[in-house]
This record gives sequence, C-alpha cells and structure tokens, in this order.
Amino acid sequence: MQIKEIGKLPSDHADNGFYGQDIISVSQFNRGNLDYIFGVAHEMRVLVERFGSADLLQGKILANLFYEPSTRTSSSFMAAMLRLGGQVIPINNVQYSSVTKGESLPDTVRTLESYADVIVLRHPEVGAATTAARYAKKPVINAGDGIGEHPTQALLDHFTILEELGKVDGLKVAMVGDLKYGRTVHSLTKLLVNYDVEFVFVSPDILRMPEDVLDVVRGSGRRFSVQEDAHGVIEDADVLYVTRVQKERFSDMAEYDRMKDQYVVDEELMARAKERMIVMHPLPRVNEISYAVDTDPRAAYFRQMRNGMYIRMALLAAVLGKA
Ligand code: NCD
Repeated sequence: MQIKEIGKLPSDHADNGFYGQDIISVSQFNRGNLDYIFGVAHEMRVLVERFGSADLLQGKILANLFYEPSTRTSSSFMAAMLRLGGQVIPINNVQYSSVTKGESLPDTVRTLESYADVIVLRHPEVGAATTAARYAKKPVINAGDGIGEHPTQALLDHFTILEELGKVDGLKVAMVGDLKYGRTVHSLTKLLVNYDVEFVFVSPDILRMPEDVLDVVRGSGRRFSVQEDAHGVIEDADVLYVTRVQKERFSDMAEYDRMKDQYVVDEELMARAKERMIVMHPLPRVNEISYAVDTDPRAAYFRQMRNGMYIRMALLAAVLGKA
C-alpha cells in the first residue's frame, strides 16, 4: 500500500507502519502491528484517565462521513479527535448533504479531503471504503461497509478481551446471534485467527457465519464448531460475544420477526457461565441481553464501548504520524 499524500512524516515521530495508510480491513493487521496499536490505545486510556485530553492532533481535521445510522462509532471517532486536540466535520445526516442531489461517493470523498486530513466512512455497501480509498489521497478509515467489515470495532473488541482477560491465546470465544449479516463478527473472527483461539459460532441456520469467513478460520488451522444451541456453549466460554439480529439487512420482515429473539442472555444463563469470563456486545442491543445482566461484573459491553474511543485515538494518531 502506498503512503498517501499527507506530507512528510513529522521528524519527531518514527514511522509506525500506519502513517498515511487507509484502514480498510482487519487483514492489514498481524501480531506485530496489533501489539503496537494496543500499546498506543492503552497509553491513550491512561492519558484520558489522567488528563482528559492532549494536543497531539492540534490543527488536524477529521471528516466523519456516515451514510448509515451510528451512535458509538461516529461519536467515539469524534471524541477521539477532540480529545487529541483535533477538529471534526461531522456528516451524519447525508440527507442534508449533496448526496441527495446525486453526488457520487468518489466526488464526496474528494470534496471532504480538500478540507480534512483523514476521512472516516460508514456506508451500506460492501467495498465502499475500498472505493473511497482508491479515490482519496488522504487516509480513509472504514467504519463499517454494509455486511462486509468493521475493522475498528474488531480492534476495540480484541483490545477489550486483552484488557479484561489479559490474553487472547488459549481462549474459547463463542459468537452468538446474527453471524450472517453482523459485520463485527466477520472482522473479529478474521482478526482472532492470528491467535490460538477456539471458536464456537452459534446462530440459526439461516444466519450462520458466511463460508468465506469460515474459510479464513479453516485456512488458519484454528478449531471451530458451528451450532444452533447457545446452552451448550455457556459453561466453558471465556468470551460470549452477542450480536443484534440486523433488522435493516432483512428483506422479509416476517423472517426477521422469527429470528429476532432466538437468543437472550439472562441471569439464568449467566448462572451457568464461568466465574472468569466476559459477555461482549458491539451494541446497540435490542433484546439479546436482559438488563438484569448489566450489573454482573462479567458484563463487559459498556467498558468495551468506552475502549472504542481509545482504539480510535490510537488509529487517528497512527495514520496522522503522531503516535
Ligand atoms: C455494530 C455495527 O454498526 O455494525 N455497531 C457498532 O458499530 N457498534 C453492530 C450493530 O449495529 O448491531
């Protein structure tokens, strides 16, 4: 990948391998550069907890372009930029932008990069971030491309496992729910194959993990199983990663209604889980986790959501050459 035209690396910062790069897919990551990003994210956490903010990205501008709804991803990218002293152009309502006049994604991206230093893009089509990155001279960060990938979510998920359980090697990770349309589980699986993880994919048959993702697991030689019953996995899972049934991806609403409440994590299920394990969810939740579970110390989803800001601070600093 070529370094984009964002100027020479500041002389006081060593190249971290991310400077001027797009972040499109988890396939760009390996154990070495993951350790680097997680190390920086941890420093960002300490920085925020001690000082609240810093001026590392002062003078830099992020264009936050969201063609799909978002609460956490868009606001944590904004908060990340603001906490590092940068500024944000938020475009969360594309219906009020020139997109409704028929402007194409390449033209929108070329417009925004003439004002900003980095572009974050969420779009309903698989491959949209790749297209945007091809046209953009500034770095593009994929914040979710349809049912494709959500690399920054996978990084924050992985970081959360590390912060909570101290390691990833040797863990049994069960993913439950909509594994077909859930982009977060696609990216997380492709990222975790770099480690000695055993996967259990739990979903109704029609929402099973896509073959191309299973092929990545097969190619890695990691152990995995595919099943429909969540009760069989709870006793020995170290990570229970729960997902929302992705209503917006269904063409048949009757089918969505049949699928939506198939798995619900409640106190009864948690009573059978290990004492040291975590429940994760990328959020938003609908009914997949009962509110009673929120106060269980093993419920990590709100801490996970906060970790998103630290990971995005690390990524922004890295692509802008300031980490
Ligand atoms: C996820 C997404 O948008 O893919 N949310 C997120 O980014 N935190 C999961 C979802 O919408 O269910």
